[in-house]
Amino acid sequence: MNIGIIVHSQTEHTYSVAQTLKEKLSAEGHSTKVERVIPAGDVPPRAKNVKFESRPEVDVYDALIFGAPVQAFSLSAVMTAYMRRLPSLQDKKIACFVTKGLPFNWTGGNRAISQMKKICQSKGGTVIGTGIIIWNKNREIKIVELVEQFSGLF
Ligand SMILES: Cc1cc2nc3c(=O)[nH]c(=O)nc-3n(C[C@H](O)[C@H](O)[C@H](O)COP(=O)(O)O)c2cc1C
Repeated sequence: MNIGIIVHSQTEHTYSVAQTLKEKLSAEGHSTKVERVIPAGDVPPRAKNVKFESRPEVDVYDALIFGAPVQAFSLSAVMTAYMRRLPSLQDKKIACFVTKGLPFNWTGGNRAISQMKKICQSKGGTVIGTGIIIWNKNREIKIVELVEQFSGLF
């Protein structure tokens, strides 16, 4: 399967998880590419008008993994703006994950995941897996679990 791992990552945490996912999925025989969503300039957490330096295209992929940080108890403004501008996701298998700093999924993790799911579903995509990595709590174990879980989806 041709899988695009599309991430926004401000301080490289989410990007490093994406790289680990790529290694595993590639080892399992998938064609896998990590692409970064890059804003033009600094973007405050709740910004509405986001401009992009890089906005990866998704049409070439059969399946997508979206990853982003939680910021201000929500999905990062950059990823929110990027995902809202995506074309149809009809017939695509999708998994979503976020990384976050604060303990507990309810300090923005659950909300960010439900924002991602809602946008994907509004574009006809099917979200078949989700995950939350709390960066300061057992992250090594949680990353291994996430990678195992996601590699079983495709
Ligand atoms: C501006 C800002 C706001 C943040 N807000 C939250 C938050 O509301 N909840 C949380 O758990 N972590 C929060 N964090 C921590 C990040 O989600 C966490 O460090 C994440 O792993 C960063 O991912 P990245 O390195 O891919 O950007 C925030 C970080 C920044 C810089």
